[in-house]
Amino acid sequence: MKTNGVITLNQEYKKQHQWKKPIYQVSQLNLWYSDFLALKDLSFDIHEKEVTAIIGPSGCGKSTFIKTLNRMVELIANVKIDGEILYHDKNIFDDAMKVETLRTQVGMVFQKPNPFPKSVFENVVYGPRVHGINDKKKLMEIAEISLTNAALWDEVKDRLHKNAYDLSGGQQQRLCIARSLATEPDVLLMDEPTSALDPIATYKIEELIEQIKKDYTIVIVTHSMQQASRISDKTAFFLMGELIEYDKTEKIFSSPADQRTEDYITGRFG
Ligand SMILES: Nc1ncnc2c1ncn2[C@@H]1O[C@H](COP(=O)(O)OP(=O)(O)OP(=O)(O)O)[C@@H](O)[C@H]1O
Ligand SMILES: [Mg+2]
Repeated sequence: MKTNGVITLNQEYKKQHQWKKPIYQVSQLNLWYSDFLALKDLSFDIHEKEVTAIIGPSGCGKSTFIKTLNRMVELIANVKIDGEILYHDKNIFDDAMKVETLRTQVGMVFQKPNPFPKSVFENVVYGPRVHGINDKKKLMEIAEISLTNAALWDEVKDRLHKNAYDLSGGQQQRLCIARSLATEPDVLLMDEPTSALDPIATYKIEELIEQIKKDYTIVIVTHSMQQASRISDKTAFFLMGELIEYDKTEKIFSSPADQRTEDYITGRFG
């Protein structure tokens, strides 16, 4: 009996503490903008079907880091990178890695909603159209599923052919999420997706993240400690381009190992 009890306990412990499979393995990553070293020797894993929050003061490299995960950062002139990022065990910087494929699999949502000056419908089906899907019925199906998953369908189903600019800011942001989901990405990168939104729109997006994380890996940059602790599984704290601490979110917010993390989350600096 006792032994059984111990075994059960161990299994339960293991289940609770098991970290899921890494989808990204970042190692010794350095990134320069010309001579300025913006990311310093970063090494950590990002796990599948989890929400990873990146926190830290302004200018610490959060946006730079998430833009590195789909190589968008390389669109900026004079960026130099060394180190390795394995995505599903393959180095994203290898010649064999097709950047277009990577960017299709790793979608991105920005701080400011950036819909195209097109209808709601055309915004959502943009990616699938680029990938050669032209069948009207199929496109409508994709639009409905993506908008439903982005918690926007009910609000826009009667105005699919109206201009996306007529939507509210919060609706536009959910439309951008729907547009990302329509290409069936594997990972969704979100750079302060709610910072321009009111509390209700923010709540809707947080709820949406909660719902879609069973199917997607999400990396989110946020300045809100409450948001990071509400929605993320893991949290990485950056300071001046360095990774100071990375752990389960509840650990970071209850008993961080580093004094600098504690100072930041309690609002003593940053
Ligand atoms: N295109 C660029 N050229 C040169 N330096 C840059 C460029 N973009 C960012 N930097 C610098 O790299 C550092 C990290 O910037 P980054 O935008 O990644 O910070 P962040 O953590 O996202 O900040 P914030 O919270 O204000 O959005 C900063 O010092 C910034 O000035
Ligand atoms: Mg930023």
